[in-house]
Amino acid sequence: MSHLSLLHLCLLLWTSLVFGCGPSADSSPGKNAALVSRGRSLHTTYACDSCHSLDGSPRSGPSYVGNFGDSVALVDGRKLVRDEAYLRRALVDPNAEIPAGSDASMPTYRLSADQLDALVAFMKSLTAD
Ligand code: HEC
Repeated sequence: MSHLSLLHLCLLLWTSLVFGCGPSADSSPGKNAALVSRGRSLHTTYACDSCHSLDGSPRSGPSYVGNFGDSVALVDGRKLVRDEAYLRRALVDPNAEIPAGSDASMPTYRLSADQLDALVAFMKSLTAD
């Protein structure tokens, strides 16, 4: 094994220790911060920010900055609340609930339960309490 791949292996081990299987204290502030930062990097990895800006500026997808808990009007006339369940459904089945002013252009992702938790925590963190 070359020195380079050994280095890669070490890096891989280190990241899985830091981000993967560290001891987790349930619902501690630290755990939420870790979830939020994982969600932030997933948001970049999946290029969600190509359609959803993180500064509230308009792109093809709606902003989720500062509107957690607000009501949202859908193209089919329904009114829902932007809560955790709504954000989760928006990721699992994006075209089931289309906000007014948007079209059905969001792709469907295959996300694990952990990835969903992280993305939802991240989106929620963009609205101050
Ligand atoms: C190609 C552009 C595009 C990409 C990439 C994209 N989205 Fe979307 N997204 C949209 C559009 C358009 C809507 C509105 C229509 C809909 O709900 O399907 C939307 C809706 C949403 C909503 C509901 C927001 C609201 O206020 O109603 C959430 C949450 C969301 N996207 C999160 C994500 C996340 C997280 C990713 C990355 C894993 C992502 N999107 C990737 C275009 C995109």
